[in-house]
Amino acid sequence: MTIHQVKQGGKGPLDVDLDKGVTIRRHPSGRVSTRARVDESQNQLSALRSQYIEDGIPFDDLTDSNPTRHGLMNPEIGEILAKQDALSYDPDPKGPLVAREALAERFGGEPDDYWLASSTSEAYSWLFTLLADPRGRIAIPAPGYPLLQPLAQLSSVRTDSYSSFYVPPGEWMLDAGALKEDAEERGYKSIVAVNPGNPTGAYIGSARDELLETCARTGAALISDEVFFPFAVEGGGERLANYEVPTFSLDGLSKLLCAPGLKCGWIRYSGPEEEKDEITPALDNIADSFLPLNAVVAAALPELLELADASVANVVRRLRANLKTLRETLPEAFRVRKVEGGWTALVDIPWEGEQELSLALLEQAHLYAHPGWFYDLSGSVLAISLLPEPASFARLMGQLRDFLNPGE
Ligand SMILES: Cc1ncc(COP(=O)(O)O)c(C=O)c1O
Repeated sequence: MTIHQVKQGGKGPLDVDLDKGVTIRRHPSGRVSTRARVDESQNQLSALRSQYIEDGIPFDDLTDSNPTRHGLMNPEIGEILAKQDALSYDPDPKGPLVAREALAERFGGEPDDYWLASSTSEAYSWLFTLLADPRGRIAIPAPGYPLLQPLAQLSSVRTDSYSSFYVPPGEWMLDAGALKEDAEERGYKSIVAVNPGNPTGAYIGSARDELLETCARTGAALISDEVFFPFAVEGGGERLANYEVPTFSLDGLSKLLCAPGLKCGWIRYSGPEEEKDEITPALDNIADSFLPLNAVVAAALPELLELADASVANVVRRLRANLKTLRETLPEAFRVRKVEGGWTALVDIPWEGEQELSLALLEQAHLYAHPGWFYDLSGSVLAISLLPEPASFARLMGQLRDFLNPGE
């Protein structure tokens, strides 16, 4: 690697890798706030991927979990949206009552317990703002969804990780003792649980009581991300709601209807009523400052939700079929972990050096897969999306097998 520093006026110099032609690091000039600053250093895998894209070198993406690219979106969605009145706008900070009535009917609680947002990601940032002062702390799961830390950073909130450990053949154990100690010592404003986890697929099972007890003892609110909840593949669980601690459940149409482009997510509050009295005006105020939700999608929500059960059933069939193909295609030495729920399979690949596996896969087989360390998973693990059309998934898994077992 040949690093060269390029000066560029008032913008702060750039380090450029001359061999690869990629930007390694931008030295900040101070124009952009520290919380918004982008770390442009690229790991080797991302740099190679960018280079392939720039050079037009084709590769298949085994991680692609954009459902709109795998034929999973119901075309009726377009018809329902087309029927809506796109010209009137009567904003309510929580989102239109008809939409919240439909949510309460489907998921429980009262319409007043819901706030609609433009995505689950936006809902996260509202909740971080609601619950934590700048530099306040929240706890997020590791391994876990990589966007939680940047979302917290943008809300000026600090994150600590709490760990789960994989216990073969198929369990994930939450280190509830360590979480409790950290929560007592650091005073978390919130603990985020992803149920089931991304990419672990593990539902919050037996750890639920300890998690709730920790929240209750330390005053932390619970945020329960349930976007993958209905996608039970080889397991199942319980939604986290209606306990003695303030609980904010998150969900949205990105996964429920395979429609991330509709930009619709929601928060459901459940928990002590007296806490709700304080929370409601504050969360109303945050929502009112943005009034984000697309009125057409909001008006269509009652009808859109009627498509959810069929959509979920269709996706679950796809996930199960592809998981079967994955297990049948890869030799036994490459263990496919149990997928309790969600859209991702984790595969343990005996390989020298966890950094090198994904690189070799891209260079030699032109297959791109997220290595486990992208998600704080230890060991040589690949995360593979189970969403593709079965025929193309089978072809890709054949290519993966040939790469792992050449000559077999
Ligand atoms: C666990 C988890 N939560 C939230 C989201 C974001 O959903 P949305 O598109 O509603 O922002 C994702 C997206 O992949 C996710 O994996």
